[in-house]
Parts: sequence; structure tokens; C-alpha cells
Amino acid sequence: MKFAVASDHAALTLKNRLRDQLREWGHEVEDLGTHGPESVDYPDFAHAVATAVQQGRCDRGVLVCGTGLGMAMAANRHRGIRAAVCGDVFSARMSRAHNDANILCLGARVLAPEYAIEILKMWLDTPYEGTRHVRRVAKIELPEGQS
Ligand code: RB5
Repeated sequence: MKFAVASDHAALTLKNRLRDQLREWGHEVEDLGTHGPESVDYPDFAHAVATAVQQGRCDRGVLVCGTGLGMAMAANRHRGIRAAVCGDVFSARMSRAHNDANILCLGARVLAPEYAIEILKMWLDTPYEGTRHVRRVAKIELPEGQS
């Protein structure tokens, strides 16, 4: 799969770790930044990854900030994006199986790096179940022109 990954300054180290892990697992990764420790604004990075997934340039996205929360709030403003903040492996599994999440958001100030990798692995290994969830996932999007 092809991934877009990004973080803000608070999560640079974890983002680099997850990026390298994805590459080790054989995935293609586009690293959209940030690339240094300078303070940046997380929505800029959330929008970049959400756009890459929305336009089909990448299959999935991973966004990391201090908590994962701001990244998810910004990414979820994009039509067709289902960004899930996951703080545990069960949520990671459910976000794929039931919600067909296409962006994983993680908190570098919340999670130990090893546990973040476990969450990422579960998120990658879990397929969408479809069936009854298709109708529900479709209802996440508001009709065109309604917001
Ligand atoms: C940056 O200090 C912090 O606000 C950001 O990383 C993130 O946690 C926002 O949701």
C-alpha cells in the first residue's frame, strides 16, 4: 500500500519511527513533514495527508501530533476522509473493521512508541467488514450542499 504520513513538531520522532516501520513492512511512504523540530501548525499537515488520500495519490494516511486529536479534527473536514484517533489496539481494529478508517491518528504524548507500532500493525492487518457497516459508513457523509 502507499501511505502518506505527517506530524507536527510534537510528534516528529514518532512519525519518523512509524514511517521507517511502514517501509520495513514493505509499504511505500510519502513523508509530508514536518522534517525538523521547529514549531508548526498541525492542521497544515492534516490537510496535506487528507488531500493525498482524498485524491487517491495515497491509499491510507497516518497523522501524529501530541494527542492525535487536532489532526483528526482537521482531516475529518475532508469529504471521504475517516480519520480515527486510536489510543488502544481494540479501537484500531474497530476503526478498520466497522468504520473503514482511512487515516490513523496517534498521540505522541499519549502513547509509548512500541505501543503506537502495535496499534499501527493492528490497523494495517484489519480489513473492513463491509456488510451492515456499508450503510452506516455512507451515512457519515452529509448530502452534498448540507453541512
Ligand atoms: C502542539 O503543542 C499540540 O497542540 C498538538 O501536537 C496536538 O496535540 C493538537 O491536537
